[in-house]
Amino acid sequence: MDKKEYTVEELKNKIDRSRLPKHVAIIMDGNGRWASKRFLPRNFGHQEGMERVIEIVGAASNLGIKHLSLYAFSTENWKRPLDEIQGLMKILVQYIRRELDKLHRNNVKINIMGDINKLPELAKNEVERAVKTTCKNTGMILNIGLNYGGRDEIITGIKNILKDVEMGKISIDDIDENTFKSYLYTCDQPDPDLLIRPSGELRLSNFMLYQVAYTEFWFSDILWPDFTEKHLLLSILDYQKRNRRFGGI
Ligand code: IPE
Ligand code: IPE
Ligand code: MG
Repeated sequence: MDKKEYTVEELKNKIDRSRLPKHVAIIMDGNGRWASKRFLPRNFGHQEGMERVIEIVGAASNLGIKHLSLYAFSTENWKRPLDEIQGLMKILVQYIRRELDKLHRNNVKINIMGDINKLPELAKNEVERAVKTTCKNTGMILNIGLNYGGRDEIITGIKNILKDVEMGKISIDDIDENTFKSYLYTCDQPDPDLLIRPSGELRLSNFMLYQVAYTEFWFSDILWPDFTEKHLLLSILDYQKRNRRFGGI
């Protein structure tokens, strides 16, 4: 039977709740193409993409996913035209203003991956407000990649470790995989179990390079503005069929 025939409720019932991925990461791609297909400016695609962020964050949190990482803006996305960047920043501010209360009520904790000092003042202030408001929450951790790059994260981590070595806080011999991980933006969170990339591209585009060493990948041609709760559930069902060996047998 074609999976697409299942309803959301049926898919939910098929998911084994005892084997949910703890951490789901998503490269939210395809907004521009979604808009172009409709002869609309690219920012309409980003706007519709924000609606999917709201839907997927709610769905993941309701399902009991403990960590959700969303790639919203990369260190390479600054290469885009200024009006598109400004449009994206405006949508980010809009998202926080519209959703922060609900996220807080739902006990979601927002954690930012990336250096937000490079964001425009208003976006930076709203992001800081969102982080501060939700910092004591104990529900799902929502990691948002903003001016995020995996290589940049690793280099920043190395610099911070070297500073701590210099100050005598840790010694070189103390550095192992666990200490290094604590210097990344995801700090003490588990690595993603499942990484979803819609839009048909089969690449990581600099997302969570260190953390995805043993992550299961789920690629799909669906464009992000068309990615609904149903697709999230389908990806989790596929994930639950995989045999993760981590190098063992
Ligand atoms: C993803 O959609 C959003 C960001 C990268 C900010 P794109 O804007 O990359 O959409 P496509 O890939 O051009 O279709
Ligand atoms: C990845 O998408 C970045 C985000 C989704 C924020 P891009 O559209 O920037 O990636 P490339 O350029 O196709 O690799
Ligand atoms: Mg893209």
